[in-house]
Amino acid sequence: MRAVACDAFGGPEQLRERELDRPPVGPNSVLVRLAYAGVNPGDSRIRQGQFAPKGRHVFPLVLGLEGAGTVEDVGISGSRFEPGQAVYGMFMHDYMGDGTYAELAPARSRHLVAVPEGVLMRDAAAVACAGATALVLVEELLGVGPGDTVVVLGASGGVGHLAVQLAVAAGARVIGLARSSNHDLVREIGAHAVVDHRTDDVRAAIAELVPGGADAAVDPVGGPAQESLADLVRTGGRIASCVHPAASGVFAARDQTVLYEFLEATPERMTRLDAHLAAGRVRPRITREFALADAAAAHEAIDAGDNRGKTVLRID
Ligand SMILES: NC(=O)c1ccc[n+]([C@@H]2O[C@H](COP(=O)([O-])OP(=O)(O)OC[C@H]3O[C@@H](n4cnc5c(N)ncnc54)[C@H](OP(=O)(O)O)[C@@H]3O)[C@@H](O)[C@H]2O)c1
Repeated sequence: MRAVACDAFGGPEQLRERELDRPPVGPNSVLVRLAYAGVNPGDSRIRQGQFAPKGRHVFPLVLGLEGAGTVEDVGISGSRFEPGQAVYGMFMHDYMGDGTYAELAPARSRHLVAVPEGVLMRDAAAVACAGATALVLVEELLGVGPGDTVVVLGASGGVGHLAVQLAVAAGARVIGLARSSNHDLVREIGAHAVVDHRTDDVRAAIAELVPGGADAAVDPVGGPAQESLADLVRTGGRIASCVHPAASGVFAARDQTVLYEFLEATPERMTRLDAHLAAGRVRPRITREFALADAAAAHEAIDAGDNRGKTVLRID
């Protein structure tokens, strides 16, 4: 099969197209013939070797944590999916490799769902990783509901733009933070107000929009941006991050809770995300599409740090 893989950790230039053997399909897995792969900042971190101390990486290393395609083969334990069925979801194993930057990739059946009628394969390919993460942040860690005002950092990014949509669907009033060139996108997906974190006095802007501070905040950025949330969220308010746990004592001083989780795409979460996708409450905005052979260019774009919505690779 055709795939893009790295022979060593390093920069985007490590990503090269080549012919590889068809990957084996485990007993509880299916083999998927991919139509699109979603690209995530996590792919770049794996490429650079940032997770090398945490587990096994199989070289040539085929990246890609998510994607969509049709079932090609089913493992010996069987599956609720049949060959030819359109599926999407997470492609994660007990090792790094056998990802979606390829014509074929194995996935555990429990990490997949059927592509809902009327949803494009391209959109389904780009929703699982950032979407399930946003779902955990908004619905589980923050328990956002009607009457809440929620600040979303990185509101134009992969996780943030899906968190905006989920918070709006939950009935909250949403204030998105993004650079001004991304304000159109953040408004289009339903944010009630937008603030430029680069040029505006964010503290003053939020105080004007919600005196006393927001009830909750979503943090897909971390670092000083996370710390700044202590001034934007009310006393006793809640913050959820997918980047790191609270790295400062400022939150405790204001009786604020900071929760963090590393994503696990459980079947229940995938089913709940799928219900939002099928109903049109959530739709990833694909702003960049590359051919599989141009995966290195996709990584250069991701590494540049000016992401907007999602990036996909077309596997044709
Ligand atoms: N815990 C998990 O399991 C998990 C799962 C998925 C992702 N993640 C992590 O979550 C992070 C975000 O992922 P992503 O896919 O959303 O990345 P992304 O698409 O690159 O989006 C990040 C966005 O943050 C914004 N930003 C940058 N600096 C900012 C600042 N100082 N203040 C406010 N916004 C700022 C940028 O938007 P503007 O250009 O508009 O400013 C950028 O688009 C990554 O670190 C990723 O590794 C973790």
